[in-house]
Amino acid sequence: MDTAAIVDIARAPRPAVQRWLAVYEREWRQRLWWNRNLIPGANGPPPEGRCLFVGGEVGGGYLRTGSNRAPILEGPHLVPEWRGRGWVSQLATDAARESSRRTTEVMTIAFDAEDAGPAFVAAGFGWLRREFRVRERSASPPPSASVRPRGQAPARLMPWPAGGGDLGALLHAAFLDTPDGQSSRLYRSPTRCALYLDRLVRGGEGALFATAISRIAVDESGRAIGLLVACSTAPRTVHVAQVAVLAEARGLGVGRLLMAHALEAGDQSGVRRLTLFNTASQGAAAAWYARLGFRVMLDAGWGWRAGRPASDGQR
Ligand SMILES: CC(C)(COP(=O)(O)OP(=O)(O)OC[C@H]1O[C@@H](n2cnc3c(N)ncnc32)[C@H](O)[C@@H]1OP(=O)(O)O)[C@@H](O)C(=O)NCCC(=O)NCCS
Repeated sequence: MDTAAIVDIARAPRPAVQRWLAVYEREWRQRLWWNRNLIPGANGPPPEGRCLFVGGEVGGGYLRTGSNRAPILEGPHLVPEWRGRGWVSQLATDAARESSRRTTEVMTIAFDAEDAGPAFVAAGFGWLRREFRVRERSASPPPSASVRPRGQAPARLMPWPAGGGDLGALLHAAFLDTPDGQSSRLYRSPTRCALYLDRLVRGGEGALFATAISRIAVDESGRAIGLLVACSTAPRTVHVAQVAVLAEARGLGVGRLLMAHALEAGDQSGVRRLTLFNTASQGAAAAWYARLGFRVMLDAGWGWRAGRPASDGQR
């Protein structure tokens, strides 16, 4: 196996796989501040997935996580020497072929100028450009960027309900008028939203014990009008996986109240930064994050590809 090939990670020599994963892990950790044990493949047995075996080394690859129903290709990644040579396209085509009968999601971070988006679009994936935003506590944001509600927000925060309550319907309704809501199958129905929230609070997006910081916002009558799914991804770092407020309750400080909680939730440990991904085309939310003092740190991409019949998978 000395020529270039894309093979199952289990078939490549273990030392070469470990050398690649060390680079993979270092780059993700430096850029996202995610804890070592939250990065797929960083600990334990070699992860499932496919890798580029070239010249006796592993030049990159992608990991497979998630359930069989919706596999997630985590961060296709190439070591620096193998970037800019078209291998991202090869990996994207391989991923599309591999996932021909299953719905697949893919998340990429542009570690350098190489943008994986066009390769995934060519391989049949829908694609949205995303931004990784960070709000540092030490950055002294302007007063307008305070996450503290002005006056009394018409809501109070409650712990995440056991079993998720009826939050699928809330998330579905809140995203109806957003680009994410219109393009992503995640938001397509209340049931899908409920499944997605369940996955998040059970440890999706690399998070553990996500319900500890997550909250719902309820109005005076006790009706849920907003939600926050957030988790600690590294010491003093909280990642916001979801924040949403029903349309009729927007502009009143409910979103700000939820964000203030994310920043202050882990105050005993001194939360220093909030991180999140937002869809670049989601103009409204991007402006809201900017107003709350979040700045863009990295370009990212998120793709999805519906499962296809096997006969259509011979591409
Ligand atoms: C984004 C969202 C959570 C904001 O919630 P909200 O409760 O309306 O926000 P707040 O009322 O706390 O907003 C705080 C301030 O930002 C302002 N603001 C609200 N929406 C804004 C927007 N789209 N752009 C810029 N500023 C905005 C508010 O007027 C308020 O101004 P103030 O500083 O004068 O008090 C809500 O609009 C939403 O759920 N959108 C759909 C789901 C979504 O897009 N989620 C993010 C996914 S990436």
